[in-house]
Amino acid sequence: MSTNHSILITGATGLLGRDVLRRLLTADSNLRAFVLVRDVGRWLRTERDFGDKSRVIPVRGDLCADGLDIAPDARAAICRDVNAIVHLAADTTFSSPLDRARAVNTHGTRRVLELANDCDTPAHVAYVSTAFVAGRRTGVIAEDFHTANAGWVNAYEQSKYEAERLVMDQAASWAILRSSTVVCDDASGQVTQTNGVHRALNLYRHGLVAMMPGVVGSTVDAVTTSYVADGIARLALRDDAAGKVVHLCAGEGALPLVDLLDITYERWASIPAWRKRGIVRPIITDLATYSLFERTISDVGDASLKRIAGALSHFVPQLALPKRFDTTNADALLGRGAPPVREFWLPMLDHMHALNAASPIARVA
Ligand SMILES: NC(=O)c1ccc[n+]([C@@H]2O[C@H](COP(=O)([O-])OP(=O)(O)OC[C@H]3O[C@@H](n4cnc5c(N)ncnc54)[C@H](OP(=O)(O)O)[C@@H]3O)[C@@H](O)[C@H]2O)c1
Repeated sequence: MSTNHSILITGATGLLGRDVLRRLLTADSNLRAFVLVRDVGRWLRTERDFGDKSRVIPVRGDLCADGLDIAPDARAAICRDVNAIVHLAADTTFSSPLDRARAVNTHGTRRVLELANDCDTPAHVAYVSTAFVAGRRTGVIAEDFHTANAGWVNAYEQSKYEAERLVMDQAASWAILRSSTVVCDDASGQVTQTNGVHRALNLYRHGLVAMMPGVVGSTVDAVTTSYVADGIARLALRDDAAGKVVHLCAGEGALPLVDLLDITYERWASIPAWRKRGIVRPIITDLATYSLFERTISDVGDASLKRIAGALSHFVPQLALPKRFDTTNADALLGRGAPPVREFWLPMLDHMHALNAASPIARVA
């Protein structure tokens, strides 16, 4: 793979994909990248920072369509030139129902694999997955765990797990790069794209949720875009990462849930307007009690409370399923671990205050 100079990348319009593409092009001045996008016009209007445009070839396609809906001449060019595919595109919505999540993440990956295997030289596939394919498993999660025996918290996790199995079974050569949850760009704490974590933090910041699932030993594993994108760009095409599953996770640098709550509520309490509201920390409960709390809201709560509880239900239960992601492969291949969560959590909170500048709390911050 080291002689590879033509790749196909999917998901390059997304948070991680655009950073990965930029890094791949910078690292190899001979690299040409076919970029699978759903809307070429939109891509051409928004693509920036990719240097020499002749090295980036947009191709219209859709994971949900047979043959990825790639035009025959474009498919022929890909099959002739490409010998590696970096596959990031996904439906990343935690609340998607299983059929929707599978349509994009599982069946879409099957179509990417069909394309990879149609290439003149069957293409290596670097599949970007989530560490939370581990689902409801607890304890130390080895990078090479393969059995799904605990179930999942949401359909996103399940569909990504199923896609991983397809990659391992069908790709001529593969690497699986599993990211933890990205919460900010880098050590500056800047948040370019908000996700469920930020929405949950905002709900707790406003005192809208009285409970949080968790147990003794719960930790929060999170990463920065820059760590994950660097890891993907450095490992996607490397021979010594082929056949390996790699956890791009904080691992030992995950923060115990109680410490994270201490840091977070202390930060918020330093804001006079927030302190005045007398918002109390949520009660940490086991999953059974949290489910009872959810059921009560669903029975007697108003529409907005139901919406809030519904949004949280798709991922906060992970907090009560304590796990530590082993990062042996990642550390060995990258020569360093991920930045500990403690390093970027406070800057990230501060950045969120800036993002919420219209709210009274943020104005004081
Ligand atoms: N960000 C995280 O915290 C995180 C954590 C763990 C794992 N991951 C994994 O990392 C990868 C990238 O995540 P991200 O956060 O960068 O995602 P994102 O910002 O949500 O972007 C998703 C990308 O997938 C593309 N896409 C979605 N549906 C598609 C379809 N039917 N056909 C073609 N392209 C489609 C989107 O294209 P459009 O522009 O057309 O919508 C976009 O480029 C995903 O595989 C995700 O599972 C992310």
